[in-house]
Amino acid sequence: MQPSLLEELTPVPNPYPIQSELSYPDIWTLCTQARDLAWDPRSIDYQDIENADLPADVRDAGAEWWSLRAWMEHGAIPYGAERLRDAIYSHLPFEIKQHVVNFIAEELRHHEASFHIAQALGGYQPSPRADYFQSIIPQFHNENEEKTMSFFGGMAVNTLFEQLSGELLQARYENAQFDSIKLACKLILRDEARHIQFGRVIMRHFFGELSSAEKLLLGQQFAKKLKGSLLNGVYAVVNLPEDERRRAGRNRALAAQHGLGATHPDDEIDVIKRALDEIREDVSKYGIEIPHIAEVDDKQPIVL
Ligand SMILES: [Fe+2]
Ligand SMILES: [Fe+2]
Repeated sequence: MQPSLLEELTPVPNPYPIQSELSYPDIWTLCTQARDLAWDPRSIDYQDIENADLPADVRDAGAEWWSLRAWMEHGAIPYGAERLRDAIYSHLPFEIKQHVVNFIAEELRHHEASFHIAQALGGYQPSPRADYFQSIIPQFHNENEEKTMSFFGGMAVNTLFEQLSGELLQARYENAQFDSIKLACKLILRDEARHIQFGRVIMRHFFGELSSAEKLLLGQQFAKKLKGSLLNGVYAVVNLPEDERRRAGRNRALAAQHGLGATHPDDEIDVIKRALDEIREDVSKYGIEIPHIAEVDDKQPIVL
């Protein structure tokens, strides 16, 4: 090999020293738990829902609901990918890179289990059928503002949502009346518990170090994502345009009535409100304020 070629292969930026010492034992514990608690979405037997005696409109509603769940889980991957890049290039300790890699793999298996359920119910939908909805999930993939924040500030915007989506998933687990859906929800929840735990570790170790400008941005960014994309048919249907809110809301209600691991639109806002109040209390200790979110804080019944 010519010396000039070797020069071109020199990694930029320089990865050395590549650290092996652990700095955060609590994050490393999450990594070893992830190894011990790994699972395979393809080992779940989805035949109970394939063979269930369900009317066609219920199958359609369930397939739409679990396709949405699959898109949501997929929507958790971009933030992991962006943070992983940062963690590598800013030489963060090994266990942080390991946790982020685990987290991405776990969100992918949540995505995978969800599209199997959608498939068994009536067919996975790779793109939303509603025109309006086509633009919602991409907004959740937008990491532009988080990229302007410090590593842990940007990470925290999304780890706070892990807590909210964990509470919603708990309600969906309780709704599930089919073994396959119940098991998938249970295994996903077990992973989410670690993601929530990681958020708490970040809070404990790093929230004290955030600048006041970043604390302000964190609260605003959290509220913006919740209002702008997650209440638009993802976590809840409240911010959808009226015709789409009625259509999507009725389908969710139908899926919930038949125990397909869904939630009634009115119950969703109650769960979100409870989780939001807890998150507010947790972050207020660090001087972070999550602005008023009328759709949740001043709940109105959802008209379907
Ligand atoms: Fe997930
Ligand atoms: Fe998660």
